[in-house]
Amino acid sequence: MKPKKNKEIISHDNFVRGRFKEDISEITADFTASLDIDKRLADFDIDGSIAHLCALEKAGIATKKEKKDIEKALLKIKDEIKSGELTLNKKYEDIHINIEKRLTELLPSAGPKLHTGRSRNDQISVDFRLYVKNAAKNIAGALLDLRTELAASAAGNIKTIIPGYTHFQHAQPVSLAHHLSAYYEMFTRDFKRLISAYEAADVLTLGSGALAGVDFDIDRVMEAEILGFGKVSRNSMDGVSDRDFALEFNFALSMTALHLSRFCEELIIWNSFEFGFIKLKDEFTTGSSIMPQKKNPDVLELIRGKTGGVISNLLSLFIMMKSLPLAYNRDMQEDKKPVMESADAVYNSLSIFKEIIKTLEFNKENMSKGLKNDSIYATDMATYFVKKGIPFRKSHEIVGRIVGYAENTGKKLSKLSLKEYKSISDVADEDIFNIFNPESSVNSKKTTGGTAFKEIKKALKEYEKEIKNDKQFLSSFK
Ligand code: ARG
Repeated sequence: MKPKKNKEIISHDNFVRGRFKEDISEITADFTASLDIDKRLADFDIDGSIAHLCALEKAGIATKKEKKDIEKALLKIKDEIKSGELTLNKKYEDIHINIEKRLTELLPSAGPKLHTGRSRNDQISVDFRLYVKNAAKNIAGALLDLRTELAASAAGNIKTIIPGYTHFQHAQPVSLAHHLSAYYEMFTRDFKRLISAYEAADVLTLGSGALAGVDFDIDRVMEAEILGFGKVSRNSMDGVSDRDFALEFNFALSMTALHLSRFCEELIIWNSFEFGFIKLKDEFTTGSSIMPQKKNPDVLELIRGKTGGVISNLLSLFIMMKSLPLAYNRDMQEDKKPVMESADAVYNSLSIFKEIIKTLEFNKENMSKGLKNDSIYATDMATYFVKKGIPFRKSHEIVGRIVGYAENTGKKLSKLSLKEYKSISDVADEDIFNIFNPESSVNSKKTTGGTAFKEIKKALKEYEKEIKNDKQFLSSFK
């Protein structure tokens, strides 16, 4: 197959070809350019350049006037990129060179000073760290919004009792609030993981140079302060080649996607004709081009579908990194696409999913139908016999026989006569019929974290405090 020709590219005009006799070939230029991806880093690149500029001034490399002029020009370039006035060009390879080219155009004598004491290796590291910090903060915010919606929905559904499942079989009655709170817990762990990925990225690596550090007196602490980094890297070789933060971020995103996917799967099932537990708002569903009656849960399916991509992106990063010797290698250019793709997928999924949760209608009648399947109270019946002094293993066996008897005679457990119960265990009494009650089943659970209303209310109170704290915590982020 012939390589695709890109008319835009003649060769790389990227400041770095002084030592070459020949021009870079068109195909190499096209193959190595990263502008399509790293153009999204423009703002971070300019912020990083301004911090570096301040350090250059402090080190006596840029005069006060040069610093002022370059900063002004960089801010102008930021605006030009935002408005589309400046056309970024692939022939300049990447975002760094595009910005610097424009800078030299605006300031032919001062502009070329900016790259003193800097390499694209530490430059891209800082840009990417700023990107990850920003994205982690935004996604943590979206997670917090979802947690808020879930806690609200749980608070309104404490007394809604549904069949709880294990092995996708009726297991025991649980409160719907308890079910929703389980997801709240998952998304709370995801929130923490994102914060920890943010912290992994929160290290200034500028000043690492290509790998060995730089020859000028660059005040790295000052740079960190300007850019809002909490730490300064301690080893320049690690500084330019560390991508742990990207992996940790992508892992956090994978976990969030996984949790979203499980939840979507459940909602898709709940939305089916057979279950009919929920009604999705029309605005989040689509029709079929052939079957006029269809109202499909496509949004939920797509969120579930995107999870594969997010997890694969994590694997891509692992595989890209696993054999790289120190320090920077060009392979690392491949790190941005998977991370950005995952961040976009998870952010967009969270944003729309939050709206779905907010507007979800529960069909309580359908939800309670399964509670009329008496076998869901079998565990409560075993507890009943335990309370009458029978060891659990024995009582489990008695109830097993009762369930088997009911099944063979085609009767419901609650419709067996006391005589029939007594024929299997004479410990059974009139009060055995009290167990067929969802509310008392749920509230008989005594442990912390169980489904009893009292426990759920306690948990919801904690969630309320936690959400408030996390909101405050997040708003303190730079
Ligand atoms: N585009 C590169 C990346 O994303 C930037 C660093 C390039 N460094 C170099 N030595 N060519 O990793």
